[in-house]
Amino acid sequence: MKVVGFVGSPREGGNTEILVEEMLKGASESGAETKIFNLNALKITPCQACERCKINGGECATDDDMQTLYKEIKESDAFILGAPIYMWQMSAQAKIFTDRLYAFFMTGFEEKYGKKDIALTFAQGNPDENAFTDYLNSVKDMYGLFGNVRDPLVAGGTHEPGEIKGNETVMRRAREIGKDLVN
Ligand SMILES: Cc1cc2nc3c(=O)[nH]c(=O)nc-3n(C[C@H](O)[C@H](O)[C@H](O)COP(=O)(O)O)c2cc1C
Repeated sequence: MKVVGFVGSPREGGNTEILVEEMLKGASESGAETKIFNLNALKITPCQACERCKINGGECATDDDMQTLYKEIKESDAFILGAPIYMWQMSAQAKIFTDRLYAFFMTGFEEKYGKKDIALTFAQGNPDENAFTDYLNSVKDMYGLFGNVRDPLVAGGTHEPGEIKGNETVMRRAREIGKDLVN
């Protein structure tokens, strides 16, 4: 059992990273092998819409660090995407990663690599955890193209890096979701 986490915040030690780490801890406690990647630290080019993936059986033609992540996702049983909310949406780092998953769309991904379990988590300054529900549900539905997606975990009212550690409810939920990905 392998679970991979992707962090879409540029802030090391930020709230998103902590949430993804907490989910991975839960998964690890349940016996999974885990790995974490910071998208901001990798060279991931935006999708070039060349459509080569559609004639290459889902293989993306852009040779960058996303090739490593494609491999990790294919080999995983479950994966996690964490992102901060920037301007009412996921960060650009997370969106570029998400767009690149287009390579898997309509190319027999599930038949070849299995149905993944997927968790999504978002950190936002807005204390109202329902502020972006419509948008986040749309993201959840779209990630449903690649597997079974949990309801997004939202950490509201977070501004300074690490602030989320003071929110016991969200931290506990993150750990539970990580466990649930495995069990
Ligand atoms: C460029 C930028 C845009 C932001 N836009 C929003 C926003 O639209 N809504 C919101 O609630 N918080 C917004 N925030 C606050 C972040 O979502 C919040 O600080 C979050 O905890 C950052 O996560 P991190 O610690 O993982 O980097 C924004 C922050 C930045 C830097």
